[in-house]
Amino acid sequence: MLDQKIKTNQAKVGVIGLGYVGLPLVLHFAKKGFKSIGFDIKESRVLLVNQGKSYIRDADEQELYKVIKAKKLTATQNLTRLAECDIIQICVPTPVNPNKEPDVSYIVDTSNSILKTLRKGQLIILKSTTFPETTQKIVLPILAKSGLKVGKDFYLAFSPERIDPGNKKFTIGNTPTVVGGITSKCTELAFLLYKTVGCKVISVSSASAAEMAKLLENTFRNVNIALVNELAQLCERMGINIWEVIVAASSKPFGYMPFYPGPGVGGHCIPIDPYYLSWKAREYDFHTSFIELSARINDNMPYYVVDQVIEAISRYGVCPSKSTVLVLGVAFKKDVEDLRDSPSLKLLGLLLRKVGKIYYNDPYVRSIELNNRKYKSVPLTKIREVDCVVIATDHSVYDYKKIVRQSKLVIDTRGATTHIQGGNIVLLGS
Ligand SMILES: NC(=O)c1ccc[n+]([C@@H]2O[C@H](COP(=O)([O-])OP(=O)(O)OC[C@H]3O[C@@H](n4cnc5c(N)ncnc54)[C@H](O)[C@@H]3O)[C@@H](O)[C@H]2O)c1
Repeated sequence: MLDQKIKTNQAKVGVIGLGYVGLPLVLHFAKKGFKSIGFDIKESRVLLVNQGKSYIRDADEQELYKVIKAKKLTATQNLTRLAECDIIQICVPTPVNPNKEPDVSYIVDTSNSILKTLRKGQLIILKSTTFPETTQKIVLPILAKSGLKVGKDFYLAFSPERIDPGNKKFTIGNTPTVVGGITSKCTELAFLLYKTVGCKVISVSSASAAEMAKLLENTFRNVNIALVNELAQLCERMGINIWEVIVAASSKPFGYMPFYPGPGVGGHCIPIDPYYLSWKAREYDFHTSFIELSARINDNMPYYVVDQVIEAISRYGVCPSKSTVLVLGVAFKKDVEDLRDSPSLKLLGLLLRKVGKIYYNDPYVRSIELNNRKYKSVPLTKIREVDCVVIATDHSVYDYKKIVRQSKLVIDTRGATTHIQGGNIVLLGS
């Protein structure tokens, strides 16, 4: 029986999609003693994993090498090997299309792959972030084509991934996990699985409730970032420093949680997931006004920052169209290499149209492509040469005192220089 196999670490665990979510997850299960298989369609990823080489910062290379050597983990492109797995966790992308509509084609493709080898006793858990009812109305109908009965022959649940890349304090091991199954037996087994690998598990009454919980978390973040971005603009107009205000408000030990302004929102989650919810809501004649409003504010931030840059350069007596600008940090947030939906890229694209020459530096991103042109990260010595430095992503490795000292003009969109005195600093929201 599957519950016995889980309790005794005898269940074989498959993880589909070896990206930011899937690789740390499969490594976690392998470390906990479960024989695990990682599946990916990208040959390069499969080869690297099998050599014990990590391409994801949150998947420790030494640990990966150890479990590969011990034959606890193997990676493959061969999806027919899903048949070997007792548990299958789906960690494939859930992007939006250019019209900001959900693209669940990866989930559909993966479900079809699972269908080909679905057998009695398997537990399937969808971990990709998606709109409520995906597990019930998209994954289940595909798997049901097998003729097997959910909750009796096979089990299906949703359990959102909550990993926060780059976060050293909260990892898969110590972040509570939410599970919601199609039937109570499905929930029970998913609960048992995560409990067995040491997670605190919270079960909810349905897969849809678990899907909604994840979207509430990410929409909450998106909306609160929008609120603080809007207040940053008001503070600037009123001559109040938003960063000082946030520190003061944060001293309240209850009922407040700090969020920070910036040049926009980025990554594979915060700017995307709320659209999954607003799209689904329309099916129910419902308009999610907070999501629309916050998208409007957050999407406008790169434009707002560019206006600030142009104004400041002009104030320094330099013609913007002849000016040189260095953008520091292109990853979507500090201390990661992830470029997906990064507001810095948007910023760079907008600046390209307005200034003479643009450069970037990012210790984690060697090159980027903008308007079909390749740009390489330049050394920090460029700071002395350019008319303006824009802090777009506040990586911890930067020496901000030195940056301010060496720059003619600094536009700080992240509050990285709040502790530094300098007449050459223009701080967003102050
Ligand atoms: N990145 C995050 O911080 C984060 C956090 C929580 C949740 N999520 C969610 O987790 C999901 C995965 O995100 P990610 O950041 O790991 O994506 P990713 O792009 O880093 O990884 C996805 C992997 O899936 C593989 N893949 C795509 N289609 C496949 C298929 N049919 N079969 C096998 N492999 C396939 C890709 O090659 C890629 O390696 C998304 O739904 C995302 O919203 C992401």
